[in-house]
Amino acid sequence: MYEFLLRPLLFQFNPETAHKMAIRALQIVEHTPGLPRLLKGLMQHQNPLECMGLTFPNRVGLAAGLDKNAQVANAFASLGFGSVEIGTVTPLGQPGNPKPRLYRIPSDKALINRMGFNNNGIEEAVKRLKRYKNRVFVLGGNIGKNTATPNEEAIHDYRKVIEGIYNHVDYIVLNVSCPNVANLGKLQSKAYLSEIMGMMHDFRAEQPTQKPLVLKISPDLLEQNLLESLELVSCYNFNGVIYSNTTTSREELSIDESKIKLIGNGGLSGVPLFVNNRKRMALIRKNIPSNVALIACGGIFTADMAKQMIDEGADMIQIYTSFIYKGPKIISDIARLQK
Ligand SMILES: Cc1cc2nc3c(=O)[nH]c(=O)nc-3n(C[C@H](O)[C@H](O)[C@H](O)COP(=O)(O)O)c2cc1C
Repeated sequence: MYEFLLRPLLFQFNPETAHKMAIRALQIVEHTPGLPRLLKGLMQHQNPLECMGLTFPNRVGLAAGLDKNAQVANAFASLGFGSVEIGTVTPLGQPGNPKPRLYRIPSDKALINRMGFNNNGIEEAVKRLKRYKNRVFVLGGNIGKNTATPNEEAIHDYRKVIEGIYNHVDYIVLNVSCPNVANLGKLQSKAYLSEIMGMMHDFRAEQPTQKPLVLKISPDLLEQNLLESLELVSCYNFNGVIYSNTTTSREELSIDESKIKLIGNGGLSGVPLFVNNRKRMALIRKNIPSNVALIACGGIFTADMAKQMIDEGADMIQIYTSFIYKGPKIISDIARLQK
């Protein structure tokens, strides 16, 4: 139904309008008593697995960015996702970059976005997250810094957001890998990253419950920087790695150079990420402890592609772009996979 009816309808609108329409429809699901539970019964494929000390209903998660403000996490779970990652959440609400900032490239099964952490801020997010106290899905919280905060002070932003979100989610993701916030990527250098991950490690140690911490990595890191980041994952006892965020590379796109130029800057997601990300899975697996979860994300459009990631060492799968192009069916296709 999605591919033949809903997608053609949604794709009539510009991508951000279509996104808003979809969120509104999901809000109706979310706020209709009994409906999420009914849909979950019909659509969620139960294939439970233990990962990072949590029990996931299945291995397919919604990647960060689609439910930035924790508006419809339960509705997403009712479509079949075993986990939903909300955010990126920053301390203060901010509008993000000027529009237009989201583009579809159907011939490459890809998107380019330069949203720039548009979100309502941690206070709003926490108010909404309180609704999910009795959830039956795994909830992740992805944290970032405000665009106006200089990198030298970024650690305080991350501290504010982890403090706010910690008690309301099951795991926390450090996002320093989004290419759409000026200079954010520089936080992936060893000195900054070590400081921020150390703060998160120490913050967790002070809490009565030890929740999993996860690092989300850019696919654009040189191998040496990637290995340095993985060293810090071990050093600060992080429990998972998400590989990857979007890329600034356009090499894998097949459309004309002129069209690429017209779109301009932004992070590319979808199928063009897949081959390079798969190539890096084994390297990452080899360089993190066996009890650290590897969450593959980037261009996973079929169950076979998910299987390839699992064969290379991934424990879990996250999707964003394939959900936009294929709808809920892709979730159950992947959820059925056995390791
Ligand atoms: C429109 C859009 C917004 C995104 N926003 C975020 C975000 O706020 N935080 C984040 O960590 N990743 C964000 N991402 C990246 C996705 O979570 C994911 O890592 C990336 O798209 C690769 O997966 P995919 O090919 O399945 O889409 C965004 C992606 C898109 C397309």
